[in-house]
Amino acid sequence: MLQTRPTQGDTSWFVRDRFGLFIHWGIYALPARHEWIKQREQIPDEVYDVYFRHFDPDLYDPNAWAQAAADAGMKYFVVTTKHHDGFCLWDSALTDYKAPNTPYGKDVLRPMVDAFRARGLRVGFYHSLIDWHHPEFVIDDLHSMRNHPDRAKLNEKRDQSKYVAYLHGQVRELLTQFGQIDIMWFDFSYPAGGNRPETWVGKGRDDWQSEKLLKMVRELQPHIILNDRLDLPEGWDMKTPEQYQPREWLRVEGQPVVWEACQTFSGSWGYHRDEASWKSVDQLVQMLVDTVSKGGNLLLNVGPTGRGEFDERALSRLAGIGEWMKRHSRSIYGCTQAPDEFKAPQDCRLTYNPEKKRLYVHVFAWPFKHLHLDGFAGKVEYAQLLNDASEVKMTVPPHQTPGAEGRNTLTLELPVQKPNVTVPVIELFLK
Ligand code: GLC
Repeated sequence: MLQTRPTQGDTSWFVRDRFGLFIHWGIYALPARHEWIKQREQIPDEVYDVYFRHFDPDLYDPNAWAQAAADAGMKYFVVTTKHHDGFCLWDSALTDYKAPNTPYGKDVLRPMVDAFRARGLRVGFYHSLIDWHHPEFVIDDLHSMRNHPDRAKLNEKRDQSKYVAYLHGQVRELLTQFGQIDIMWFDFSYPAGGNRPETWVGKGRDDWQSEKLLKMVRELQPHIILNDRLDLPEGWDMKTPEQYQPREWLRVEGQPVVWEACQTFSGSWGYHRDEASWKSVDQLVQMLVDTVSKGGNLLLNVGPTGRGEFDERALSRLAGIGEWMKRHSRSIYGCTQAPDEFKAPQDCRLTYNPEKKRLYVHVFAWPFKHLHLDGFAGKVEYAQLLNDASEVKMTVPPHQTPGAEGRNTLTLELPVQKPNVTVPVIELFLK
């Protein structure tokens, strides 16, 4: 078994639970064309304000959200308490730019936390380091006002340290007023260097006072799992690849680390009405399996609408995943990458439950009658399809079978027709 780099936060539940819901919700749900809209279209504050003045999610029912997540088999959730546009979901004492001051008139975060907790899901807070609304946040090359003709003059009046006090103060609110928080998800740092030019005016650890922020987070919630976007070489617990599937278990300095892929249903994180690139249930289930087969977690994102609902496209996908999870979650929870001696056959992914000593073969493309597992001969006591617990017969091909020499192959005898499930799984009980 791979030994992961130790974490300061408590990741023991996290690497068992494997599957969470990301929620990107804010006033950008109204323009409904990406959560970066203010930055992309360089919308001035006074124009963007129209969304603040019209935010009224009258159909918002956090119990329905939490139920949809629980039914999909998700075990935790991470919500944008504030995104880059600076709008806050909770009743922060440090700003007026918050849900209670919109036509909706109420804190939307607290009832969400309560609803998810009531269904046994753990709570994670995403919080944007970036803030394109705060008057002291120094305008940089990523800012919605980056091309403002008076940028330099405006910046003379801005004092980043005042913004930092605000940032730290809000994080303190979040970590002291909502009970136990399991994950803190900061987003993000973008200093010059790396793949950005040296002349790039970005922000990093000094602009957030990351060391100090880290210290406060650890003091307030010692068990919390912290992501890796504070621009600090140490102190984080998990890596967060986004919008791509890593090819193998993520490593830092050669050592495997706790990691979580975050993925969207379509392209954007916030609600996007016109996006057509929605992934299928098949694809999403395969992504979850693929992630766990490499020792990672999947955080799958929903962007609720301005009325306060998960739209039909999101709900149908969550339901499809839930249908699969109902019979196959055993190959996800408590599972991780298979030991090295077991190699996945073509078109398959393996996961492994080390406590139960069971291997799970996920078959992405259903073969005709036989699945050959090289190196498995003599190691498996019993095999069954996971969806209906029907026996899968095993044979060790005689030595004369062409190609079988020295491969220690175990052959599974499969029904000709693929079981009627999104991704069929064969459960192997190891000796
Ligand atoms: C990015 C984007 C963002 C999203 C996040 C999720 O860094 O800035 O909009 O919230 O990724 O990982």
